[in-house]
Amino acid sequence: MNLVVVGAQWGDEGKGKMVDYLADDADVVVRFSGGANAGHTIKVGERTFALHLIPAGIISPGKTVVLGNGMVIDPASMFEELAGIAAQGIDWRGRVVVSDRAHLVLPGYKSEDRAIDERRARPIGTTGRGIGVAYGRKASRDGVRVADLWDPVVWNSLSPSDQEWLEPFKEKLGEMKVNLASYMMGLKDKKVLLEGAQGALLDLDHGTYPYVSSGISTTPGAALGAALGPRKIDKCLGVFKAYQTRVGNGPFPTEMAGSDEELAHELRELGHEYGVTTGRPRRIGYLDLVALRYSGWINSLDGFILSHLNLYDGFENIGICTAYELDGEEIDFFPSCAADLERIKPIIKTFPGWEGKVADARSWEEIPEGAKDVVKFIEEFTGVPVHGYSVGPLRSETFMKEMPWTAS
Ligand code: IMO
Ligand code: MG
Repeated sequence: MNLVVVGAQWGDEGKGKMVDYLADDADVVVRFSGGANAGHTIKVGERTFALHLIPAGIISPGKTVVLGNGMVIDPASMFEELAGIAAQGIDWRGRVVVSDRAHLVLPGYKSEDRAIDERRARPIGTTGRGIGVAYGRKASRDGVRVADLWDPVVWNSLSPSDQEWLEPFKEKLGEMKVNLASYMMGLKDKKVLLEGAQGALLDLDHGTYPYVSSGISTTPGAALGAALGPRKIDKCLGVFKAYQTRVGNGPFPTEMAGSDEELAHELRELGHEYGVTTGRPRRIGYLDLVALRYSGWINSLDGFILSHLNLYDGFENIGICTAYELDGEEIDFFPSCAADLERIKPIIKTFPGWEGKVADARSWEEIPEGAKDVVKFIEEFTGVPVHGYSVGPLRSETFMKEMPWTAS
C-alpha cells in the first residue's frame, strides 16, 4: 500500500512528526520533493531531531528511507545531517537509499539563490539553500543528477572546483544510489509511506506563485517524485494546523495584523513558531478554510490530520476564516494572483472556546465537545474528514480516528 502525507498549508504543519508516527507501521519511507529547505522537528522522549533532507522515517529503528527523484540534494548537507543523527544514536548505515535521478545542489547554487532573490523586485525570502537554482537547472536541462557523477560527458563538463567538491561524496553516494522505478516495483506488497515537504500553498503550480518553492509539494508529486505513477497511490492525507503560518514573503489573507498582533504573538510563543531551517519567526494567521478546501481538492485528500488544536485550550473563542472579500465582493475560491490575494479581507467566523483540554485527549471521544464542533464544521466546509490528531510535540501525543493503513 502506498500512503502519501503532505502539508496542506504553507509548510511547517507537523508533517515530520506525523511521518515519524506513521513510519512505525511502514516498511519503507520515501521523501518525494524538496531539499534542505524543509525543516522537520521530531521529539522522541528526551531527544529532539531536526531533519532537512533525510526522510523522517529514519528515526524508526530498522526502516529504510529513500530520497526520491523529485528531490534536490546537497550531498554536503546530507552527510552532515547523517553524522548529526548518528551522534544522537541513530544507526543509519544501510538504511538510506538515494534515487540516481535526484538532482544535486552544487556549491555555487546557494549564493546564486540568495543573489537572485536580492535582485528580485519582490523578493520571495527563500531559505537560501539553492533550491530554486537546482530545480531551475533541472527544468532547463542543465542539472547534474546523482547518476551523472558516473557519466564522463557530464563529469567532464563540470568545473574543476565542482569536481573536487563532489569527489569525496562519489563513493558513498555510489553505495546508496538505486534505480528508483526498479526499486519501487520490488516493493509490491510493502507498506510505503510517501513523505512530502513544504505545503500545498508553496507548490510550484498550485501555490501563491511566485511566492512558492520550486518543487511539487502536492500529492501528485508523490507519484512523480517517487517513481510510482498516479494509479499506485492508495491514500492521501494532508496535515494542517488549527491556525495558519507562513515563513518568507508572499500573500497571507488571514494574517493576524494590527489589533490581532497580540494573538499572533501568543500563538507564536505557544507553538514555538520559529523556522527550523532559518530560525525566522513565522507569520501567524487565522485558520483559512477557503485555502484548506482548495488544498483538499488539489491533493485529492482522503483525510486530514489536524495539529495544534490544543493551542486554543483555555481560549475564550477562536476565529476561523470561512470566506474572502475581494474588492467589496464575497468570493469562495482561492485566487490565482498574488496581487488579488494581497487585497483580500478575510471573513472570520468566531467559535466559542471549550472546557477541558484537547492536549489531554488521546482519542476522538476525549476531545472536548466545543472543540469537536469546530472539527465537524471544518469537515463539512472542506468535504474532507479529519482522520487523525496531533495534540502536542511528542510521538505519544498523536492519535488516529481512522486507520491510516487501510486503503480508502
Ligand atoms: P517544511 O517541509 C515552510 C518557503 C521559504 C520561502 C519559499 C521559497 O519544513 O514544511 P525556497 O528556499 O524553497 O526556494 O523558498 O518557500 N519554504 C518553506 N516554508 N516550510 C517549509 O518546509 C519550506 N520550504 C520552503 O520560506 O518563502
Ligand atoms: Mg518545517
